[in-house]
Amino acid sequence: MADLCCHRWTILAVLLVCLTLFGSLLVQWPSMLNTFQRPKSTESDIPGNITNTTVLVWYWAFGFSQRLHGNVCKDRYGIPNCILSDDRSLFPQADFVIFHNRELINGQQRLPLHLPRPHKQRWVWFSMESPAHNGNLKPFAGQFNYTMFYRRDADFFTPYGWLEPHNVGTGMTVDDFIPKEKSSLACWVVSNFAAHHKRTEVYNKLKKVIPVDVYGGAVHRRLPSQDLLPTISHCYFYLSFENSIFQDYITEKLWDNAFSGGAVPVVLGPPRKNYEAMIPKDSFIHVDDFSSIEELGEFLKKLAGDKERYATYFKWKLNYTVMTSSNWLVKPPCQICTKLTTLQTPKVYWDLQSWEWK
Ligand SMILES: *[C@@H]1O[C@H](CO)[C@@H](O)[C@H](O)[C@H]1NC(C)=O
Ligand SMILES: *[C@@H]1O[C@H](CO)[C@@H](O)[C@H](O)[C@H]1NC(C)=O
Ligand SMILES: *[C@@H]1O[C@H](CO)[C@@H](O)[C@H](O)[C@H]1NC(C)=O
Ligand SMILES: *[C@@H]1O[C@H](CO)[C@@H](O)[C@H](O)[C@H]1NC(C)=O
Repeated sequence: MADLCCHRWTILAVLLVCLTLFGSLLVQWPSMLNTFQRPKSTESDIPGNITNTTVLVWYWAFGFSQRLHGNVCKDRYGIPNCILSDDRSLFPQADFVIFHNRELINGQQRLPLHLPRPHKQRWVWFSMESPAHNGNLKPFAGQFNYTMFYRRDADFFTPYGWLEPHNVGTGMTVDDFIPKEKSSLACWVVSNFAAHHKRTEVYNKLKKVIPVDVYGGAVHRRLPSQDLLPTISHCYFYLSFENSIFQDYITEKLWDNAFSGGAVPVVLGPPRKNYEAMIPKDSFIHVDDFSSIEELGEFLKKLAGDKERYATYFKWKLNYTVMTSSNWLVKPPCQICTKLTTLQTPKVYWDLQSWEWK
């Protein structure tokens, strides 16, 4: 201590340097963080007296039931004061009740309209599907207070994936992110092959220009899940073709398959601008970038043969890590508790159908 006191100027200088560094970080940080849309932090923003928020999952999406031992939100995600349950007897005290859309529209489940709905209770409509696959939502007009959806304007934005800024250690180069053995030009895994999908038309044209390795149930060439990413890593390009085209509908076909597999995504989905709100502009190739599918095919052939240019599509990996929703059954419900103060209230979706299709 005594030593420190006698070097007041040194301390002052060190402080100044620290402050300057910290200041410049502060200036850069927000712009780094806000570059791409991603879910907000998971820290609790409830001020003052802390009471528990009860989130009730009325039934599990697609029957994927989860075991909720202990204080799940806190233990798994560090979210305190948040009780997640699928025990329907908690209905009278639940603050939020979540209903997954699929089971409602196919009649497997119903809204508990026969139960007295507590005044403070808020109902959440949940879907990860595009409007093309969400059925008729008109019967649900005026029932839901909030939406949990992949779209950015949902009350609870639940993207299929997002990027977190990071800085790799010095010494890492772009090449470290490119899988070494590339043996296929373009690959596609498709489980649902429908003639009316735009993607089917594009594929049929593309395969006349370049070889496309197709896997999946649709072509009786199923990939066991442990083989998926290793297979994709051998492909220069992966066809991240969405089954339908809607704003923000950018699914695991991009995040899990292409990005995590180490192939450059060729995307078919919403316009390029929509992708650029989520991912760097030089991380993907958009089908619409070309005036014809033939031109796209020729471009892919050339790019695969140009090592240096191909590498530019991986540069962003030096600055961002790919995050995917590893558990969208449990994490998003827990995250409700982190957004309490930002929710518009009261709120009712008087016309959920129009909101969904807008
Ligand atoms: C905080 O919560 C406790 C337990 O629910 C209650 O007894 C207490 O009055 C509350 N305090 C304030 C300031 O609201
Ligand atoms: C909140 O829930 C936890 C875990 O179940 C419990 O230990 C705690 O007493 C609860 N707090 C309040 C204020 O009800
Ligand atoms: C991206 O990461 C590289 C390597 O760590 C670094 O040199 C570069 O400044 C970073 N770019 C941005 C925009 O942060
Ligand atoms: C939630 O929706 C119901 C049904 O429309 C409505 O009566 C209630 O006031 C809403 N609650 C909030 C907090 O918005």
